[in-house]
Amino acid sequence: MTDHLIITDEGETRVIKLRRPEKKNAITQAMYRGMTEAIDTAQNNPNIRCLMITGGSGVFTSGNDLEEFLHAGTVSSEAVRTSDMVKFLYSLAHNVKPIIAAVDGIAIGIGTTLLFHCDHVLASTAATFSTPFLRLGLVPEGASSLLMPQTMGYQRAFAMLVMGRTMTAAEAHIAGFVNAVVSPGHAEVEAHKVAREICKLPAEAVAISRKLIRTPPDELTRRIDQEAHIFGERMSSKEAVAAFTAFLERKKH
Ligand code: COA
Repeated sequence: MTDHLIITDEGETRVIKLRRPEKKNAITQAMYRGMTEAIDTAQNNPNIRCLMITGGSGVFTSGNDLEEFLHAGTVSSEAVRTSDMVKFLYSLAHNVKPIIAAVDGIAIGIGTTLLFHCDHVLASTAATFSTPFLRLGLVPEGASSLLMPQTMGYQRAFAMLVMGRTMTAAEAHIAGFVNAVVSPGHAEVEAHKVAREICKLPAEAVAISRKLIRTPPDELTRRIDQEAHIFGERMSSKEAVAAFTAFLERKKH
């Protein structure tokens, strides 16, 4: 298990905390593996009623680790489709336990798209949400091309996914994917309150109702696969390689 994640069971809630602040919690393949394991091992554990994902104070995540992404061989459709990132997305798609997210800072790329798989999202006024895939020469991932327009309407989804516009916490609240906006430093505390509220509800009825409300896992994984295929092709595009290289070299000049 990587040092960049802290997984703890607090009461009936499994808390997944990203801990790589020096890199703005950029997510490595090892972190994806750790998060996948934390989610998967909770599925048949009756003592875990809820999951929580948090970046701690001041940051949620800057998304995929771009350096690793460029060098880890994830530059073909097949490599992306079998990557730890996609396995993590599959876990989210098949997950049967309510997931609460606490966002207290930047949520970039998958940091935003993963929220559309969550059941309840708390954001502080310090939170911002962006999916700059196009700027990187890439395309949407994580079933965001399905879930984002579904949740907040086509025009908002276009502004984020294609135009790369950033949303504030207040805008995300209005758009419908943030439940409540709290003061900086308070998202996690509020997320714990929500988790306790959900954990008090009858477990079976929660599971059944959740299944009725959500987009079916098969539909999600089909879209995740489609996106991953194109994403993989785009990874080796001139546009993407130039964007990654420019990011990694920006401080050398
Ligand atoms: N992958 C790898 N490293 C990242 C990263 C990412 N996604 N995001 C930040 N980092 C690293 C930076 O390279 C830097 O490392 P260094 O100190 O060794 O040089 C460190 O985290 C701090 O980032 P920095 O850019 O100095 O902080 P900032 O406050 O000026 O900007 C961001 C923060 C997140 C706005 C900026 O780093 C950024 O745009 N990151 C890329 C986000 C992105 O495009 N993600 C992928 C989406 S698909």
